[in-house]
Amino acid sequence: MPRFDPQALKAAQESARQKAELGSNTTDLLLSVGQEVVAPEHPHATEELATRYMGLVLRNPIVASAGPLSQTADGIKALADGGVGAVVMYSLLEEQIRYEAAHAAELEEEVNNSFAEALSYFPTTSSNNSGLTTTYLKTLEDGAAGVDIPVIASLNGSVNGEWTHTAKQMAEAGAAGIELNVYWVPGDFTPAREVEKRYLDILASVKSEVEIPVAMKLSPFFSSFGEMAHKLDDAGADALVIFNRYLQPDIDLERMQTTSGFELSGPGDARLPRSWIAALFGRLHASLAATSGVESVNDVIKYVLAGADVVMTTAALVRNGADYAGLLVDGLVGWLHRKGLTLNQARGMLAVPRESAVEEYARAGYVSGLEQAKSRYGK
Ligand SMILES: Cc1cc2nc3c(=O)[nH]c(=O)nc-3n(C[C@H](O)[C@H](O)[C@H](O)COP(=O)(O)O)c2cc1C
Repeated sequence: MPRFDPQALKAAQESARQKAELGSNTTDLLLSVGQEVVAPEHPHATEELATRYMGLVLRNPIVASAGPLSQTADGIKALADGGVGAVVMYSLLEEQIRYEAAHAAELEEEVNNSFAEALSYFPTTSSNNSGLTTTYLKTLEDGAAGVDIPVIASLNGSVNGEWTHTAKQMAEAGAAGIELNVYWVPGDFTPAREVEKRYLDILASVKSEVEIPVAMKLSPFFSSFGEMAHKLDDAGADALVIFNRYLQPDIDLERMQTTSGFELSGPGDARLPRSWIAALFGRLHASLAATSGVESVNDVIKYVLAGADVVMTTAALVRNGADYAGLLVDGLVGWLHRKGLTLNQARGMLAVPRESAVEEYARAGYVSGLEQAKSRYGK
């Protein structure tokens, strides 16, 4: 274990204090301390990295976000072997669940009308006939049984309804938690309060189905994101996953067509989520998960300094393979040792100080940033 140097903490605290006074956009003033470091026995699971996330204990704060690498039990195992602290599985979509339920209902009616004696050939549960839900639950069951880290199932929808019952099946299949992704673009004239209510209603429906923790994966597009975060927190969200990436289509000028614009993120995409994590740190009961823009360990460290309990990534693992998670963990450990900090000390060190009003802090940062930019670019 590293020997903790109290002077390094003092330096870090002083740095955070100075930053708070100066506003944002200042350079890192943390001092390196030359200290003797004993390498941890298992780099992905040391005591110092243990992280509490939505009530679960993780061996480290790197989490594979919902994505293409968790579509099989082998994929989940590869992510665990690669070093992540938890896996969020790809999403089961509301539309898939509803389609299957409708399909099953139709079949049952047809069967009832024509050859009731053959009923026994058909599965009795409605949503499982066509396979997507069954496949998901089977993958979850096998995936969770094959690893010793938490596997979080993902439910993804936009209109409150019966699909939320699937959360219960997910819990029964071995999910350690549910990540609820409400992806909805209120494109018409839906009043803001109705938009907010819909999120809260869907959360309440899922919470009523399960005892396991429920995280809410969110977009930043609310009239008052801070208020929304507090409301979800009050409603019992066990974590907020910040932020969902919204599809922003591009236009192909030659073909005169829109394209999906679904590209892997880069470090610049971390700035908005990081700012909000820094603003919310220490102000909610819910855990804070960062998602978007992790390319290297530096992006992980920045999220931790902003206050993320866990740092999620899909892009980095898709680009570099599941083993890259281990490198991120090692990089984080190396940096913590170099700075003489524990993970808990580093977490939130550069968040908006608790005694500061977020609005004033953000405005002050904006004003000073604007002034600096004017003198820099206005010559
Ligand atoms: C190929 C791909 C598939 C994804 N599938 C899902 C999904 O099923 N459910 C979900 O909530 N997010 C999904 N995401 C979004 C990621 O979980 C993540 O929030 C987003 O990619 C931003 O993180 P990143 O910058 O680390 O990639 C997907 C992302 C990618 C690239």
